[in-house]
Amino acid sequence: MKMLMFLAAAAVLLAVACGGNSSPAAHRAAGGDEGAAAALVALPTPEEQKALSVRGEEVYKKFVCGSCHAPGSDRQGLTGPPLGKTAERHLARQKGDELAVRRWFWSHVRNPEAHPGIYHGDSAYSAKMPGYPQIPDEELRALVEFLMTKR
Ligand code: HEC
Repeated sequence: MKMLMFLAAAAVLLAVACGGNSSPAAHRAAGGDEGAAAALVALPTPEEQKALSVRGEEVYKKFVCGSCHAPGSDRQGLTGPPLGKTAERHLARQKGDELAVRRWFWSHVRNPEAHPGIYHGDSAYSAKMPGYPQIPDEELRALVEFLMTKR
């Protein structure tokens, strides 16, 4: 009997431990926080994507993302990874899930520390990306669509 109780307790502990380890990572991969899941509920239509991405390029300039990131595939001596193929990289990481990648970009820009990118901790990119909680939702929506054109 004692043995059974011990086994039951061990099973509960194991379940708690595994849940505690795997769920934040899964959550992060899906990018469903920093308001992303609430703000991005469905894919924009192709027309909306086009209009948003044009506006998003302005947002990218307004917040001077280009001080660390080159827009193409050549790093141009900057401190952050070039963003030329960033959507392609993240689509591969999220198994082609277009909405999950948008949500991840959203979460990453709001709080990169909590949503580390592919190059997080890579010594080639020594600068630390600041979080941008101050970007208004409408502008961030456009910025995300601009990043999605990078494929
Ligand atoms: C001070 C330099 C700096 C600034 C400014 C900066 N970033 Fe970053 N960014 C980085 C670094 C370093 C990384 C790599 C670490 C990581 O991926 O977590 C990164 C990673 C990224 C990634 C993931 C790249 C990939 O392909 O995995 C995206 C997307 C991104 N930044 C977008 C932006 C946007 C949009 C802005 C402006 C709102 C911005 N960054 C401003 C330094 C910066």
